[in-house]
Amino acid sequence: MGRGVSAGVPQPGTTAPGGVPGTTAVEWTARYGQALMGNYGTPQRVLVRGEGPYVWDATGKRYLDLLAGIAVNALGHAHPTLVSAVSAQLGTLGHVSNFFATPTQITLAERLLDLAAEGGAPAGSRVFLANTGTEANEAAFKMARRTGRPRILALEGAFHGRTMGALALTHKIAYRAPFEPLPGGVEHLPFGDVAALEAAMGDDVAALFVEPIQGEAGVRSLPPGYLAAARALTARHGALLVLDEVQSGMGRTGAWLAHHLPHVGGGIVPDVVTLAKGLGAGFPVGAVIAYGERAGSLLGVGQHGTTFGGNPVAAAAALATIHVIERDGLLEHVRDLGDWLLAALRDVRHPLLAGARGEGLLLALELTADAGPAVASAALEAGFIVNAVAPDAIRLAPPLVLTRAQAGDFVAALPAILDAARKATLAAAAPAPAAAPAPAADTTPADDTKDS
Ligand SMILES: Cc1ncc(COP(=O)(O)O)c(C=O)c1O
Repeated sequence: MGRGVSAGVPQPGTTAPGGVPGTTAVEWTARYGQALMGNYGTPQRVLVRGEGPYVWDATGKRYLDLLAGIAVNALGHAHPTLVSAVSAQLGTLGHVSNFFATPTQITLAERLLDLAAEGGAPAGSRVFLANTGTEANEAAFKMARRTGRPRILALEGAFHGRTMGALALTHKIAYRAPFEPLPGGVEHLPFGDVAALEAAMGDDVAALFVEPIQGEAGVRSLPPGYLAAARALTARHGALLVLDEVQSGMGRTGAWLAHHLPHVGGGIVPDVVTLAKGLGAGFPVGAVIAYGERAGSLLGVGQHGTTFGGNPVAAAAALATIHVIERDGLLEHVRDLGDWLLAALRDVRHPLLAGARGEGLLLALELTADAGPAVASAALEAGFIVNAVAPDAIRLAPPLVLTRAQAGDFVAALPAILDAARKATLAAAAPAPAAAPAPAADTTPADDTKDS
């Protein structure tokens, strides 16, 4: 059995417990299609184990994971500190109801308040612990409703999650339309447009929801000064400024929270920050940080809750993540490596490559054509996991522990990956031969531009 592999997890060339002897990657994919709902499409590979920044598929092939479970596996895979913290907590006290408190839950809330205090969170700030990003935003949505004001503002391109409240805040029509009617009162404003925000703002606005960097919209940074203007306008009208740092938070940009970077946040202090993804480095945990007495007291006794929120194992995972980020100087590492990688990607010359953008280790390659899925597919063939976050953009959100040498492996491989993608794109554009063979099930790329 390989290192870092839990009992019961199928190994390359072996079977799952209760599985059919000799199960192959193709068979796993077929079984997936028979057992799981079709909402994620066809999986690109069946993965069986991970270690550091690498994962292995069911055929034994190794990949450098430059997506980290979509900005989640901050410490890479099977990090020993995370594994032992989770195991120890599960072996001590695995779950209690919210009728009770645990030291891990309380300590995590205190640590999150410490991190928020570095960005100016005042006394009276409070934390609500959830399990996912969408749930954190759902709680923030309910906080907004508790102001008694009817209108909520969000931005075009926004992605805040898939549950009904978070979906109402999400902009993409294809995600929203099948589920109408959604909770009402949400208006989407043009991205980064201060004049539009000023025109929309009023004393009837409960909250403005903003991602400091829009991840799912293609790693798009707000124009300089936008967050400062948003802060001034929301403050003037008594509306909450909610920063969704589910993707950009917990060290991903080289600061605990992206808005702590002066050129991103301009020194603003929000009313609410939502977190998830990297917070537990692979263990599901989300959080809402409410800044100050007003935001901290919007949800009263009995007005919100979730069975697993504050679960001690999830809290232990988050505490271990914060500990390793601090102990190993990962914020500085992310800033240094992110600067280096961005510059290195911008130096690559290829007709398919227009440039690169992003902050820290939340980056995107800008393509000259809608070749994103072809590039992601070619990268996978070459042993790199990336994501076509938009038709013309490739997202990189690797583990924060990625080394320069590992990042360099991708930079070195990139021209050949882009060549292969260009060839595939040209071949796809050519008239189809009469009877082209269907691709093998386990190599068929799913709709790689879909969001989490
Ligand atoms: C900014 C942002 N908010 C919220 C979410 C939803 O998080 P989750 O998938 O954990 O519900 C995501 C997920 O991609 C996100 O990027």
